[in-house]
Amino acid sequence: MQLVRLIYVSRMTEDCDMSGIQKILEVSRKKNRAQDITGVLCYDPAFFLQCLEGPRAAVNSLYASIVQDPRHRDVLLLGYCDAESREFAEWSMAFLATRDLDSQALAQYAGGGKLDPYALSAKQAHDLLAGIVAQERERLTAQAAEGA
Ligand SMILES: Cc1cc2nc3c(=O)[nH]c(=O)nc-3n(C[C@H](O)[C@H](O)[C@H](O)COP(=O)(O)O)c2cc1C
Repeated sequence: MQLVRLIYVSRMTEDCDMSGIQKILEVSRKKNRAQDITGVLCYDPAFFLQCLEGPRAAVNSLYASIVQDPRHRDVLLLGYCDAESREFAEWSMAFLATRDLDSQALAQYAGGGKLDPYALSAKQAHDLLAGIVAQERERLTAQAAEGA
């Protein structure tokens, strides 16, 4: 089975709000589990940056329906590549906000100004998402340690 990783950016439309995002996540997590797709959805709140990883046919077919979803527009494919292994294996779809990223890391990609995800290279988009997820993993580990 060929594993691929796809990253795109899009702008949220007026058809979408926080409850709309909750609905997207609910459906996504159920469908992604069934399709063996994992990934992360990052929300700005003006744009979405999403990484999908999984079997090639399943990822391609999901992306085709995501592109047509009226809850966002200006969908731009930033990266698509074969993947040796999954990076977000524990998440059927993690949901994170860019404000979770420390300002230093954000400044690195934003060039000191406001982050423009449409200007990111495939590698930058990937590293940005990986950085946000790494922070979330640290937060969850610290939370679990506190609770122990
Ligand atoms: C920003 C965004 C991200 C989405 N991510 C996923 C996803 O990861 N998995 C998924 O099944 N649907 C996702 N969707 C929803 C799909 O576009 C689609 O509505 C959903 O898969 C249901 O499709 P169906 O009615 O053909 O079953 C996303 C939609 C948006 C706007």
